[in-house]
Amino acid sequence: MNIKIPEYDINLEPFMTGPPDFNNKSVLMQTEKGFKSEVINIVKLTAQEKLFQIRILDSCEREKFTFLPGQFVMLELPGCGEVPISISSSSSNREFIGLCIRKAGKVTGMIDRLGPGAIVGIRGPFGTHFPMQRMKGRNVLLIAGGLGIAPLRSPIYWVNEHRSEYNDITILYGTREPGQILFDYQFEEWQKIYNLKLLTIIQEPDDNWKGRVGLITDLFKEIRIDPDNTFAIVCGPPVMFKFVCAYLGNIGIPRQRMFVSLERRMHCGMGKCCRCNVGSTFTCLDGPVFDYWTVMNLKEAI
Ligand SMILES: Cc1cc2nc3c(=O)[nH]c(=O)nc-3n(C[C@H](O)[C@H](O)[C@H](O)COP(=O)(O)OP(=O)(O)OC[C@H]3O[C@@H](n4cnc5c(N)ncnc54)[C@H](O)[C@@H]3O)c2cc1C
Ligand code: FES
Repeated sequence: MNIKIPEYDINLEPFMTGPPDFNNKSVLMQTEKGFKSEVINIVKLTAQEKLFQIRILDSCEREKFTFLPGQFVMLELPGCGEVPISISSSSSNREFIGLCIRKAGKVTGMIDRLGPGAIVGIRGPFGTHFPMQRMKGRNVLLIAGGLGIAPLRSPIYWVNEHRSEYNDITILYGTREPGQILFDYQFEEWQKIYNLKLLTIIQEPDDNWKGRVGLITDLFKEIRIDPDNTFAIVCGPPVMFKFVCAYLGNIGIPRQRMFVSLERRMHCGMGKCCRCNVGSTFTCLDGPVFDYWTVMNLKEAI
């Protein structure tokens, strides 16, 4: 049989006006390249968490390393492994990046044992970020549970450094026990930020606790939220943002104006290994920051 294959004609291809839109994926930057870095300072926050200040050794690479609030890096402990960690410092700080790390297992347990001067590797920055530009002129409500305050520090620095561009800023922070509160040494400094309200709450107080007791959702009684004019950033355990976002939705904040950061096990951080996918979505590339509408429509996202 003689089959004649038609000649390829580019004019028959569908017309494309621009590069394909991969659902607002993050822009891939210095991805595969690792930066040799040094731990320059360590702040012990609680029995489980420490803040590591990490400096990229090469001054040119350090200067070029930029990120936006909500993005993460892959932190490598040579010979041990690599873990994804949210950047917890100001995006305008070019001297070092701050990573708040909880000892959870093998790699983070080894990182916990590091001292100043230790050499580590940094890859990134990776992932999507909180849409700080879109929030301009609006109220910003930042809600954190437990370790969720770590990724929230970067947007807090941002709104402080661009204070005139945002309206009211509210931070709600809850932990299970008083001993788990992170960054309380910064609370005074945050409360001095113009028109910023910070409320904290504890679920299981000890005898010395003089503050509020209850769940993070109990704090909603103490604040006024203008649903037409508010963006929310919610970080914490998935069960927390289920309840928090349901409340915010009920009072009229559109789910596209609530942002959460999802956590999945990760390996490459750049959409290659399929470790972090939720359906057809990669948490490392399409996230970790998602609007809540997207999360609600992603099966098994939370
Ligand atoms: C985008 C992103 C940002 C993150 N930011 C931070 C941060 O700022 N600070 C911080 O301390 N941790 C953060 N994590 C979680 C951190 O990456 C994990 O705790 C770490 O990878 C655990 O590695 P390990 O070898 O120490 O533990 P393993 O020995 O591998 O595991 C210990 C335990 O942790 C669980 N676990 C491992 N990885 C994850 C994960 N990704 N999500 C949920 N549970 C996990 C395991 O199921 C196991 O129960 C982040 C994770 C992601 C995906
Ligand atoms: S971590 Fe490899 S695809 Fe997301």
